Amino acid sequence: MKTIDPCTLLLFGASGNLSRVKLMPGLYRLDSLSRLPADMKILSVGRQQVSREAWLAEIEKMVRDKFYNGIDEAVFKRFIERNHYHANPPDDPNAFQNLSKTLGNESVFPQNFAYFLSVRPSDFAMIVDQLAGVGLVDESKYWRRVLIEKPFGTDLPSAQALQASITKHLKESQIYRIDHYLGKSALQNIMLTRFANHMFEPVWNSEHIDHVQITNNETLGVGDRTQFYDSTGALRDMVQSHLLQTLALVAMEKPKDLSPESIRAEKIKVLEAIRPIDTNNLHKQAFRAQYAAGKVPARDGHLEKVPGYLEELGHDSVVETYAAIKLFIDNPRWKGVPFYVRTAKRMHEGNTAISIRFKKAPVELKQGQQQNWLILSIQPKETIKLEIQTKVPGLDISTRTLNIDGPLRQPGDESIDSYETLLLNLMEGDPSLFLHINEVEAQWKLIDPIVKSWMEDKGPVHQYPAGSRDPKESQVIFESEDQFWRYSIELGGDQH
Ligand code: BG6
Repeated sequence: MKTIDPCTLLLFGASGNLSRVKLMPGLYRLDSLSRLPADMKILSVGRQQVSREAWLAEIEKMVRDKFYNGIDEAVFKRFIERNHYHANPPDDPNAFQNLSKTLGNESVFPQNFAYFLSVRPSDFAMIVDQLAGVGLVDESKYWRRVLIEKPFGTDLPSAQALQASITKHLKESQIYRIDHYLGKSALQNIMLTRFANHMFEPVWNSEHIDHVQITNNETLGVGDRTQFYDSTGALRDMVQSHLLQTLALVAMEKPKDLSPESIRAEKIKVLEAIRPIDTNNLHKQAFRAQYAAGKVPARDGHLEKVPGYLEELGHDSVVETYAAIKLFIDNPRWKGVPFYVRTAKRMHEGNTAISIRFKKAPVELKQGQQQNWLILSIQPKETIKLEIQTKVPGLDISTRTLNIDGPLRQPGDESIDSYETLLLNLMEGDPSLFLHINEVEAQWKLIDPIVKSWMEDKGPVHQYPAGSRDPKESQVIFESEDQFWRYSIELGGDQH
């Protein structure tokens, strides 16, 4: 367990959804696991004038809503006492001076500051500017770290502009660019499984692997985020960040050690080795679609009628809610191996997984004999599944698929939300699970040309009924006819 210096965590955007659903409950949990230093304080910064009492009542609601009866009252009391509120009205020219004054009360606030910016992306640079203007990112006596929520830019130029702006005041070591997928334990396990076992590395290459699928499907729609989503789309929302990071963990070379620098260096290398998309042949490498009205499984299992994306939006749009792309990595390990990366809202099931199909076996006992699949399921189940061919017991020689399915989670294991891990890492000063600017740039470089082509193409966008599987037309990106989309890990390899 790493030690954490006494510090003050400042939450900008503390009344927003992220803070309500993830951050406050997550901080309470960390406190209940005794992972917060005794003298750590939390200062929520919001636009409204709110008294401390009223804010503490809000926090109480956030935490109780999440944990219901599972609250340890003694811990809760301790947690509540850590919390303070500071109003930073946007129209107050002295807002940051006042913040500095509040923080100057050293008997209340430890002087190492971690800023969590969960605000509109257009405010990131301004907040850093203002903090710097009143000396609040100066590290001459204490550490000062800034966590920037996703998205870091909306394309390469805007990411570079944001970088240029914040590095006027911050060193790279002070910047924590978040991708919450890296906080998921099952995602961290990818690297561990690959390198802490001997059996995977020898087959982890183009000699043995036919193709890789990186999938994130959700049954949810865009909900009340229509405006954000319509200026973003599935590619930028999920592929540019979470799924390319997942791909990097699957495809990277072994880091020379487990230091943040070495891990990030290998991720950067592999992301930069991805072949740029040939936009002249885009239709063979990328497919987009939008969900139409349909039925999706609700929480209680019954099918619920839901409207289509355009109906929710209220106007026409070519923005995709389904995106599938084919990528190649131009290095010796992955020569010629397609990586299919796909994400969709309003599918028949929600799951995030890496499905790896191995090449044909040297012996084919029956036509159409299944190839081996290794599936690393990230959510909802965290499992590793291997599908192998075995003999059917009996007089004849025939094979069938044996599914070896191992849950990563054992009864009694801690279940930690990714934000809890990342909040802790921020306070510990461990940037391993945060993005280096070169990763962000490599990701935008890859995605920008596709987004641009799709935006320019105003032709009708393929529609899929909410609650369905991948549109058949998406198969146009497959390299060979025997490839097919894998679904949740429950389905055998024979399912197409
Ligand atoms: C967010 C996207 O970054 O990730 C959302 O903006 C998406 O659209 C979410 O639903 C998925 O995260 P998770 O952890 O629920 O898989």
